[in-house]
Amino acid sequence: LATSEVDISQIAEGQIITVKWRGKPVFVWNRTAKDIEEAKAVKVSQLPDRNARNENLAPDAEATDENRAAKGKENWLIVTGICTHLGCVPTSKSGEFDGWLCPCHGSHYDSAGRIRKGPAPENLHIPPYAFDSDTKITIG
Ligand code: FES
Repeated sequence: LATSEVDISQIAEGQIITVKWRGKPVFVWNRTAKDIEEAKAVKVSQLPDRNARNENLAPDAEATDENRAAKGKENWLIVTGICTHLGCVPTSKSGEFDGWLCPCHGSHYDSAGRIRKGPAPENLHIPPYAFDSDTKITIG
């Protein structure tokens, strides 16, 4: 399927689900205020990859939390679940930065899906998506 529709109405605060889009895992996270706060506290200048890697924004958008989260709905973070090092699937809610840990070679991603430590060169990519309503998104 070129697009995937996802019902997000049952995703509790703090929960991350994995859906498929074009055969790839996509993580959909309903972040808590703490997750958002932690991500916002980081300066872009501290990040290994300063690019938002967000297909919904201009290619040169900076990797602020605002540019990583869904527009106007900052609790939602939607990222492709493929480590930017060599393509393993990172484990959710793991690692030193409360986001993901890649089990293959130890890349740590934060609560905005940004690479913080380890060999991965880029932030987790953000696929094109849109909110059809408050409870439904279409990826792709
Ligand atoms: Fe994720 Fe190497 S594939 S750290």
